[in-house]
Amino acid sequence: MCRPDHFTVSYRINPWMRPDQPTDNALALRQWSNLHAAYRDLGFDVRLIDPLPGLPDMVYAANGGTVVDGIALTARFRYAERAAEGPAYAAWFRAAGLAVHEADAVNEGEGDLLLVGDTIYAGSGFRTDPAAHAEAARVLGREVVGLRLVDPRYYHLDTAFAVLDPAGGPGSVAYLPAAFDDASQEELRFRFPDAVIVSEEDAAVLGLNCFSDGHTVVHAPQAEKFAADLAERGFGTVGVDTGELRRGGGGIKCCTLELREAP
Ligand code: ARG
Repeated sequence: MCRPDHFTVSYRINPWMRPDQPTDNALALRQWSNLHAAYRDLGFDVRLIDPLPGLPDMVYAANGGTVVDGIALTARFRYAERAAEGPAYAAWFRAAGLAVHEADAVNEGEGDLLLVGDTIYAGSGFRTDPAAHAEAARVLGREVVGLRLVDPRYYHLDTAFAVLDPAGGPGSVAYLPAAFDDASQEELRFRFPDAVIVSEEDAAVLGLNCFSDGHTVVHAPQAEKFAADLAERGFGTVGVDTGELRRGGGGIKCCTLELREAP
């Protein structure tokens, strides 16, 4: 995770961002701290990267890279405003002893590359280049299934698709069908016949941008129907409001990069 010390909305690279409307940095910091505390309460080992001035989106750690089996595929950002985050996260990965592979193609880390079981689901359409999908397959040694996003509000895969059970299985994800093109919707129905289908309303509060260890889902409390569906399926649910960070277009999952160690 990365403290939102420098969080603000000073440019617009997704429709959620409104540079004309001031953000409340103290509120963002309190909400982020609540998320950090929730993870610690769940027993997770949370590591921190130092936030850098001039990189207001660095709080969205999910975009910093993709780590599988102790291998870190670095991020290469679509927009110049975030470009310097790539090397910053790469330096952190190196210092942490991960095997770092510098990406050739544009990819925005776990914003668009999500591991479910032994398969990486990879978004494209707004940020990550489809060429990055093949690169991720090669570097991380996993099957990659491409999914095409079509709604600019859901510009990263992790805003429209949530991993509920990292182990995989027919009901191990949740998603908003309308965020995907027809072929991707078909692929999702085929791969996850028991998925939780999320409403427009719950997706619009970035409800799908949640984090799950397979047992407990940490989610936006505003996504009420989604939370009820999760509870009905036997998941523990922990609501943490990160509404101020949503003004940058990110939620809980965006603030969270998973570090998967070598087996
Ligand atoms: N303002 C950031 C951007 O547009 C938000 C990133 C949100 N992160 C995510 N994993 N969806 O790049």
